Amino acid sequence: MKEVVILLGSGSIGQAIARRVGAGKHVVLADLKIENANAAAEILENAGFKTSTVAADLSSRESILNMIEHAQKFGEIKNLINAAGVSPSQAPVATILKVDLYGTAVLLEEVGKVIAEGGSGVIISSQSGHRLGALSEDQNMQLATTPTEELLNLPFLKDIVDTLKAYQHAKRGNVLRVMYEATRWGKRGATINSISPGIIITPLAADELKGPRAEGYLKMLKASPAGRAGTPDEVGDLAEFLMSSRGRFISGADFLIDGGTTAAYWYGDLQYLKKTH
Ligand SMILES: NC(=O)c1ccc[n+]([C@@H]2O[C@H](COP(=O)([O-])OP(=O)(O)OC[C@H]3O[C@@H](n4cnc5c(N)ncnc54)[C@H](O)[C@@H]3O)[C@@H](O)[C@H]2O)c1
Repeated sequence: MKEVVILLGSGSIGQAIARRVGAGKHVVLADLKIENANAAAEILENAGFKTSTVAADLSSRESILNMIEHAQKFGEIKNLINAAGVSPSQAPVATILKVDLYGTAVLLEEVGKVIAEGGSGVIISSQSGHRLGALSEDQNMQLATTPTEELLNLPFLKDIVDTLKAYQHAKRGNVLRVMYEATRWGKRGATINSISPGIIITPLAADELKGPRAEGYLKMLKASPAGRAGTPDEVGDLAEFLMSSRGRFISGADFLIDGGTTAAYWYGDLQYLKKTH
């Protein structure tokens, strides 16, 4: 039996993290699209990692439980990486909330019941959650602590009609839920944190940067403090630190990794985006 790493969402960001924390362990590659998990498995196996794949839907408790059962066949679950999600241009409001908000909350709840002593996890949120204005203390409390099966019935979520707003609430919700779950994971001797990336070059983002909205994106990146987009490896390096022995004093925290874009959005050269983003 080995220590097990679960990666849900076997895309570029998830793979970068798995490569940094998966050596000598068994890496479970899970994805809604099994072909994505299989493609990641081929790359990782050829790089010396031990893997298995399983189809899993973040928006379904049954599917999450099936993934956990699969993982436990190989050993104790030591690490969780959630890099699965849908973006505002990929899905309608209801799907974004069901996958990104509800699904992440269920995943944290279920893995939090079985995570190994000394374990750690990261949830990939987004800079988008940092573009939402302040919510009330009550709304924060509700997103953090409402029982998972009641989460999607929160009245202020029912009012959302715009996919970007849905994504922003889901990603803010991830950060708050991680804080709540850190208190539960801590009782098992495990840590859990979130990472909020800015634009990271993945196949999808690379397409956007060549597509019809390329000009707007390039202008935004140029005006950001870093002057460029990020890479999956930079997110991987941060996640590795959080999940390593050096990160044991860090739990329930969110880390923005966006080249300063959020700072420029609120207080600098990107304030023009407030009208549309
Ligand atoms: N790329 C960026 O610029 C960026 C920026 C901020 C946040 N993020 C977040 O990072 C995460 C990973 O994004 P990425 O850029 O690596 O994208 P990606 O498309 O490469 O990977 C996402 C993976 O999630 C899978 N997935 C989608 N819905 C799922 C579901 N219901 N259950 C299980 N798997 C599902 C997809 O099949 C895909 O393999 C997402 O949560 C995204 O919101 C990305």
